[in-house]
Amino acid sequence: MFKNQVIWITGASSGIGEALAVAFADEGACLVLSARRQKELERVAARCEAAGAPEKHLLVLPLDVTDASASFAATEKVLERFGHIDLLINNAGISQRSLFKDTELSVYQKLLDVDVMGQIALTKAVLPHMLDRGRGHIAITSSVAGKIGVRLRTGYCAAKHAVIGFFDALRAEVEEDGIMVSTILPGFIRTAIAENALAADGSRYDEPDSDITGGMDPDKAARVIVSGLAKGKREIPVGEGKEMLALWLKRLSPELIFRITRKSK
Ligand SMILES: NC(=O)c1ccc[n+]([C@@H]2O[C@H](COP(=O)([O-])OP(=O)(O)OC[C@H]3O[C@@H](n4cnc5c(N)ncnc54)[C@H](OP(=O)(O)O)[C@@H]3O)[C@@H](O)[C@H]2O)c1
Repeated sequence: MFKNQVIWITGASSGIGEALAVAFADEGACLVLSARRQKELERVAARCEAAGAPEKHLLVLPLDVTDASASFAATEKVLERFGHIDLLINNAGISQRSLFKDTELSVYQKLLDVDVMGQIALTKAVLPHMLDRGRGHIAITSSVAGKIGVRLRTGYCAAKHAVIGFFDALRAEVEEDGIMVSTILPGFIRTAIAENALAADGSRYDEPDSDITGGMDPDKAARVIVSGLAKGKREIPVGEGKEMLALWLKRLSPELIFRITRKSK
């Protein structure tokens, strides 16, 4: 399904993005790997080669998604190298671990810059080329926290709710032009997301979180996501803990979810 398809993954230097890169390499895709840390991207590219991707199928393209002009320039580089983009996975992201009452306003700005504006800017750069071709697929990694508000993550939940709204609306605008839009809704996946989260003062939280360390294996999660993308699913829930049940409960009984979440960690 993805053989020779050009797939651009942001947040490819670790966690879910890394696992997706390796899974798509195994499928024979051409991969563009983006995040800020070049050395980590090179490590992931080596894993992709080990999974069977020839060097000519791989482009390591460092990018900070908060730099909109860099996103436009990076898009041109991808088009120069591969000619087109079949699938863009807006997966870069950063979380939060702090109560609103303690949190500096600048933390909210950073979360919205990375998790919302960064995703919109890169999509703005890539979409015109897909529209010209009359086909393409754009995915966004939101979260269960994009459907349910939980403690310690006011900014993260705001950002992840925002991208669901944005990409649902975008889908309604472009689906009839041949562009698919998929929203990925991970529950707890075993990555460094908690350590990399922002603390109240904007510093790195730097502590593991038992929900995440006990979460789904990222390679297993990547296989679920790849299968969902192959089927063109509009929403791809992925996870195996009780948080996935919360997605259904939120629809069935929002009141119950509001009571449960006030007791969550
Ligand atoms: N793990 C979970 O339980 C979980 C649950 C729900 C949703 N998610 C979402 O899944 C996505 C991937 O997270 P993860 O769990 O794999 O965590 P992770 O291991 O911390 O990965 C985050 C990725 O985002 C990149 N990134 C952060 N800021 C960036 C920026 N300004 N520009 C470009 N890249 C940036 C990081 O790379 P650099 O540091 O090299 O830039 C890294 O590759 C995120 O959107 C996250 O919100 C995760």
